[in-house]
Amino acid sequence: MDAFADVEDSGLDDDGRAAFARDVIAGLSETPKTLPCKWLYDVRGSALFEEITHLDEYYPTRTELALLGEIAPDLGDALPAGAWVIEFGSGSSRKSDLFLDALDDLGGYVPIDVAADFLEAAAEAIARRLPNLKVRPVTADFTADIDLPVPLVQEMAAAPRVGFFPGSTIGNFEPALAVEFLMRKRRLLGDGSFMVVGVDLKKDRDILIAAYDDAKGVTADFNLNLIDRINRELDGGIDRADFAHKVRYDEDEGRIEMHLESQRDQTVRVDGHAFDFRRGETIHTENSYKYGLDDFARVAAASGWRSGRHWTDAKGLFSIHLLAAD
Ligand code: SAH
Ligand code: AVI
Repeated sequence: MDAFADVEDSGLDDDGRAAFARDVIAGLSETPKTLPCKWLYDVRGSALFEEITHLDEYYPTRTELALLGEIAPDLGDALPAGAWVIEFGSGSSRKSDLFLDALDDLGGYVPIDVAADFLEAAAEAIARRLPNLKVRPVTADFTADIDLPVPLVQEMAAAPRVGFFPGSTIGNFEPALAVEFLMRKRRLLGDGSFMVVGVDLKKDRDILIAAYDDAKGVTADFNLNLIDRINRELDGGIDRADFAHKVRYDEDEGRIEMHLESQRDQTVRVDGHAFDFRRGETIHTENSYKYGLDDFARVAAASGWRSGRHWTDAKGLFSIHLLAAD
């Protein structure tokens, strides 16, 4: 987190603010109330997520990092030389060094993230660490079709493209939307490309609950930061103390859910709109789906990618999948 302690939040531009307002007003008008999880990531939210990744209870990051280290030679053998790596939801780019290091004669690195200020800081840090690498950050919402800037497309020319989607961020989509995401990225990356995806696996519910409701309350802060962001960016009048972080594991769906639970009957105001809450009513802020290996192979197949190898750690907590577009 320290490397990002000085990143200033320039806030949303007019289009971003309008999109945030639309999503909040629509989400709080639904029953049950919900908000898209991408809004969790302003500068403070991104820094808090980075802090989560260092918590004892949050096993995914350290497990995936160790696994990436182990399989680097396999990745190097399987992936083409001279490739451009395009990373989706790159955050701090902490895993990228290991991944980029595994590939021969890299063409360049394109980190893509919705959190613009944090992305810029992370891209500068990686360019300092790897001064010979071409680093070309792109701020975009990865759930939509991404238009890469024309000069970047020209620079990549006919070089092979490798997508990198670590962290089990794919688990933050409903499975049908995970299929749609992978389809769109297959189109973006093109025939002959590859995609490497980190996927968290189903496991004991106590391990899962602890990972999303840690003892230090960092995940609670990450979730409640959404209230602060609504107050700051949308002129909201919500008292953070009137909401609490709640985590559930829905075993049938195989997903962890994060909610913000109203602590009393109340009416909150956002951008000139009023929303009534009963005590105990929640805003559903995030899903984190956990997969079985076969479940994920089905998602990959439905999206048109061919499943290549996959790797898991010795405890079977986390998996990394190599997909090919051929
Ligand atoms: N890849 C990193 C970070 C994962 S956190 C890791 O594995 O540790 C998820 C990242 O995805 C955050 O950086 C967040 O800003 C970004 N993100 C979330 N929703 C997004 C969206 N719709 N479009 C682009 N980036 C998004
Ligand atoms: C980014 N994503 C994969 C994290 C997850 O585990 O679903 C986000 C997160 N939410 C709470 N803790 C971490």
